[in-house]
Amino acid sequence: MSNLHVIDHPLVQHKMAMLRDKNLGTKDFRDLVNEITVFLGYEVTRDLPQEEVEIETPMGKAKQKMITGKKLAIAPILRAGLGMVDGMLRLIPAARVGHIGMYRDHETLEPQEYFFKMPTDISERQVIVVDPMLATGGSAMMAIDSLVKRGVDPEHIKFVCLVSCPEGVKALEEAYPQIDIYTAALDEGLNEDSYIVPGLGDAGDRLFGTL
Ligand code: URA
Repeated sequence: MSNLHVIDHPLVQHKMAMLRDKNLGTKDFRDLVNEITVFLGYEVTRDLPQEEVEIETPMGKAKQKMITGKKLAIAPILRAGLGMVDGMLRLIPAARVGHIGMYRDHETLEPQEYFFKMPTDISERQVIVVDPMLATGGSAMMAIDSLVKRGVDPEHIKFVCLVSCPEGVKALEEAYPQIDIYTAALDEGLNEDSYIVPGLGDAGDRLFGTL
């Protein structure tokens, strides 16, 4: 699992403990998802290319590094991925946001794409795909397949989730070994309904109060 980055910062883990609690209300859940996403976003942007610039301060000239290279896009997988957009935008406010709509067919449990809208220059961008739960990996792989079909190089894609499990990580790593996965937790595994255990339940329902 070499591409997996489990962010074990004490603040992240503390917030994850609060987030998993089944008694946490919708507003607090949503706020915490955003807060945790900021920390994950901090890590996922850690290796962005930089260039040295010279800045004139009130006291003289300073050499300072600024981000250069490809522009960024955030790609939430609907609907739960929407909960992570504000957290990412807090760090990278100029990023474009492209949406990928997926639903899980309740009989086959397979993901189906129903919406895909990206910035027109998506193939030129570094894309951060966000979805709170990496369960079977089916939605993540289908979302990435869609981006690759539109010309995005998998080398320019990163995947960020709050909770992952070995099944999803393995599936995504086998399909796209070049893609780094950032997560706040690697849980035990999936139950018979493909929910992550212990997980946090249905992230979309908890974010939007549709329980
Ligand atoms: N999606 C969720 O929201 N939760 C899970 O545990 C798995 C998939």
